[in-house]
Amino acid sequence: MKIRFEGLTKRFPNRNKKIKAEVVAVDHFTFEIPDGKLVGLLGPSGCGKSTALNLICGLETPTEGRIYFDDDDVTDIPAENRGVGMVFQSYALYPHLNVRKNIMFPLQNLKGEQKMTKEQMEAKALEAAKIVQIEELMDRKPNEMSGGQQQRVAIARALVKMPRVLLLDEPLSNLDARLRIQTREEIKRIQNETKITTVFVTHDQEEAMSISDLIVVMKDGAIHQIGKPQEVYDQPTNLFVAKFLGTPPINVFTGRIEGGKLCIGQEEILGKDYVKDTSDQEVYIGIRPEGFVLREGKDGRLDGKNGVFSASLLAVEVMGRDTSVVFSHSMSEIEGTRHRAIVSSDNQIDPESQIVSFDLNPKKVFVFSKESQERLI
Ligand SMILES: Nc1ncnc2c1ncn2[C@@H]1O[C@H](COP(=O)(O)OP(=O)(O)OP(=O)(O)O)[C@@H](O)[C@H]1O
Ligand SMILES: [Mg+2]
Repeated sequence: MKIRFEGLTKRFPNRNKKIKAEVVAVDHFTFEIPDGKLVGLLGPSGCGKSTALNLICGLETPTEGRIYFDDDDVTDIPAENRGVGMVFQSYALYPHLNVRKNIMFPLQNLKGEQKMTKEQMEAKALEAAKIVQIEELMDRKPNEMSGGQQQRVAIARALVKMPRVLLLDEPLSNLDARLRIQTREEIKRIQNETKITTVFVTHDQEEAMSISDLIVVMKDGAIHQIGKPQEVYDQPTNLFVAKFLGTPPINVFTGRIEGGKLCIGQEEILGKDYVKDTSDQEVYIGIRPEGFVLREGKDGRLDGKNGVFSASLLAVEVMGRDTSVVFSHSMSEIEGTRHRAIVSSDNQIDPESQIVSFDLNPKKVFVFSKESQERLI
């Protein structure tokens, strides 16, 4: 089932009397989540992700705008009738109930034709438990399980009514790094198997990128970009999106476009073919860590003199397959930033060298207006 938002807005009154302004938690959402896809809602803390989920499931009513499930306007339909399964940010299992009863819980209040016998409920609970592979734990209580297992119980509980939409609010935030990766792959598998339209909230860009079919990047209630993870990474619409995606983060410098050339300080880093007909102006230049290319000198050694971009070498960190080259630059957007370039470990870099010099892969260089921070090139 697809979910469509039309001008969806949620404003909260500000409780701080000194500041009259309202908080706009969700600001005119207008877009569509395609049927059967997993969409990652990504943004910093407080940007409105949980509010957006609460609007979809009906726990909050919008100040303005409409929500549609396929062609049905569900804006005024109460939460319990929307057919939505939700895993909350704090996944809150009932501590006094065992796994079976926790999973069965949403089935107990069904009325009329939907009402089930105990046997039917147990069968449904087992079915949901099998999807998340916890069928052996049905008699345990939450405090007798690991965080990851509890997480799966919460997902099974959200799945048990076979919802039309599954909403997951930071479902992995309480897990350790390894379990996080394992569980996120699990969520992807479950979503693939069930084909339930799923919205997955996270502030972790790597998590969103790794499992989403589409990501929605938010800030201050507003959508900044929607696209496939790789598209958003390769074609960010503005400086915020470019900075939010990628580890290590994009390196940002102040520079200028001058006579068809892109310059940082005294260096001309890219020429006319790249700049084309963008007018002269001050800009921010973002370079992804993998966009730096080390150039070899004549004798096959890196002499630190050949590239179009030179910087002060701070450290060389060899990390197996890759080497991280840490450097500083006088034209950093934020003074004193330690920048990082990621190059293959095949490169031999002299850590004693004062200067490191790179060529640049133009596909990994983005130019933003200094005024609007929108992307120019
Ligand atoms: N009931 C409420 N009353 C007033 N303001 C609220 C209410 N709920 C949320 N807000 C405000 O709305 C904004 C968005 O909150 P929300 O919980 O949706 O953010 P979030 O993106 O989920 O953040 P996090 O990553 O920290 O969970 C915040 O500024 C928050 O303080
Ligand atoms: Mg939240």
